[in-house]
Amino acid sequence: MSKVTVKDLDVRGKHVIVRVDFNVPHKNGVITDDNRVRAALPTINYLTENGAKVLLLSHLGKVKTEEDKAKNDMSIVAARLAEVQDAPVTFVNATRGEELEAAVKAQEDGSIVLMQNTRYEKGESKNDPELGAYWASLGDLFVEDAFGSVHRAHASTVGIASHLPSALGFLVEKEVNVLGKALNDPERPLVAILGGAKVSDKIAVIENLLKIADKVLIGGGMSYTFSVAQGGQIGTSLLEADRVELAKEFLEKGKGKLFLPVDSVVANDFSNPTEIKVVKAGEIPDGFMGLDIGPETVALFKKELEGAKTVFWNGPMGVFEDERFAKGTIEVCETLANLEGATTIIGGGDSASAAKNLGFAEKFSHISTGGGASLEYMEGKELPGIAIIPEK
Ligand code: 3PG
Repeated sequence: MSKVTVKDLDVRGKHVIVRVDFNVPHKNGVITDDNRVRAALPTINYLTENGAKVLLLSHLGKVKTEEDKAKNDMSIVAARLAEVQDAPVTFVNATRGEELEAAVKAQEDGSIVLMQNTRYEKGESKNDPELGAYWASLGDLFVEDAFGSVHRAHASTVGIASHLPSALGFLVEKEVNVLGKALNDPERPLVAILGGAKVSDKIAVIENLLKIADKVLIGGGMSYTFSVAQGGQIGTSLLEADRVELAKEFLEKGKGKLFLPVDSVVANDFSNPTEIKVVKAGEIPDGFMGLDIGPETVALFKKELEGAKTVFWNGPMGVFEDERFAKGTIEVCETLANLEGATTIIGGGDSASAAKNLGFAEKFSHISTGGGASLEYMEGKELPGIAIIPEK
């Protein structure tokens, strides 16, 4: 990659605006996973250690109402940020105006200001030009380090960059290097494992991975739509009827490289099942729904993963939040974690949480901090937050 990076900037004594992705999961004011804060530290520490005055901008959650504002107050992140690194952190409970401007002006070299949630501003998600220009007026330089948000063309991810000399931060650089290698120059065989509920969420990524991967293994809720496309019976399992024709096309295009479940764990009810059993794929009885891949599918997927040199995994194999239907996801996760000699990449979202909750996170080569962003990247799309950063 030949984009300008933070190392190419002369940051000493400068006001550097950094777009980070501090959209962390939180409950009742407590952050439940601070990975995204920690993932931003290499860039933040580099800047403070090199004498920059750092202004951090991020969104937190979806903000539509006053209630959403109260729920997604960035001050909880400021407190965590102060705990995990050494530079002084000032939190400004504003997204524009005198208080913010004064705090930035008063900054010493090597200090940090974290502003309130960018989505408190209505213009943020619309990439309002006035807002982008205003935020840009607070700095000398801009660094894009919010990998999880680079698929959004918002005022903070794109707008500011059009006014200031701009660069990628270390996190975006790392994500793009790892995902870019898997996409453009993978060590082969490249195997993709895709799960999750809906075919419609994954159309573009399935399409692209069928072109570039040596094998594509599909599990999760979306596999039942494929089963119907093959003429199977799926009982009350999740079906996207309007995607059956598309699934047929994928089956045709993916001949020889697309692998679907051969059996399913099924139950007679989603939340209060009284009967759980394993049946062959496409033979799910009436009144039963598929909620996980079965043991023969696990064995098949393990066999197809043998010898893989690069693996990209996105999406759980079943309803893994319920331990009765978590085995498929756990086994896939464990298999990948122990795959010798392979670059193993998790494309964010639920599969990343599964790996962390199961204690396997350390054993993966890379767990992306982007959910939507890493999927869109693997679709082969140009992501606006990256596209806006100039080449060297
Ligand atoms: C994410 O969590 O995927 C990113 O922070 C983007 O959040 P968004 O989907 O609300 O834009």
